[in-house]
Amino acid sequence: MQRCAFAPGKVILTGEYAVVFGYRGVAIPATIGIKVVFEEDSSFESVHIAWEGTECSEIGLKYVETIVSRVVRCNERGELRGKLTIHSDIPLGKGMGSSTALVIAVVRALCSGARDVALKIEDELNPGHSGIDFETIWGGVPVLFKKGEDPGPVVLPPHLLSGAVLIDTGFPSDSTPELVEWVRSREGEIGGALKTIGNCTERLVDGEPYAAIVRDHHKAQVALGVVPQGVQDLIAEIEAGGGSAKVIGAGSRTGGAGMVLAIGNRERINSLADKRDMSVISI
Ligand code: MEV
Repeated sequence: MQRCAFAPGKVILTGEYAVVFGYRGVAIPATIGIKVVFEEDSSFESVHIAWEGTECSEIGLKYVETIVSRVVRCNERGELRGKLTIHSDIPLGKGMGSSTALVIAVVRALCSGARDVALKIEDELNPGHSGIDFETIWGGVPVLFKKGEDPGPVVLPPHLLSGAVLIDTGFPSDSTPELVEWVRSREGEIGGALKTIGNCTERLVDGEPYAAIVRDHHKAQVALGVVPQGVQDLIAEIEAGGGSAKVIGAGSRTGGAGMVLAIGNRERINSLADKRDMSVISI
């Protein structure tokens, strides 16, 4: 028996952190994602993990081992034996939902009827999450998300992201659960920024031009403290040239901030990224 599964990455258009506090957010699945193939083979003692495609760190491999061990625990059919091959086109740990996509793709490949199992594992491995990554990646369609409710469909203007790119600003130095916990601990002082981010979702749903929304969204993310100085400088230069940009996902306090979504003059954005040795992918 061989089972193939796929889970896309995700791009949050509006709502980072605000969704944790009950505001609405909008996210879309990425066109790239993670493919997992499980070849059942009783000659194996357990599940052997093989990685193809993007480089996999020791941490990434350990993370997949943890997911597999949780699935084995939930598996009603008994032990799982065989080869599990992972192929990822999304960069790991850069705000594109790789950790949730790994959970979903691995669970889908190893067991059917998997939503509950996947969500349980996501809750364990990504404590404090709002559910926006899970719902977007599980459903594979754009979602209007509100914590604790079924995600709704969202109609977005057809050329919303035409010409947009993702700039890889490097690895965040904090994990998403750590950042969510840190932001939570400062709820009193960052209430205004959370409200602004929540309002960005409402403006997007109301059809306001996205470029203007992104500028305000970015300012609020800076106020939350999750956009490192170097990334703020990059975005300031993009804005100075008439563009706009924001971190997608949790960002970071220091180091890189994962992927930055940038809209504007493509050549100028490419050269700003180039100057910093940062790679760019089309969206
Ligand atoms: C992470 O992709 C998005 C955050 O809002 C956390 C969450 O909603 O679970 C930062």
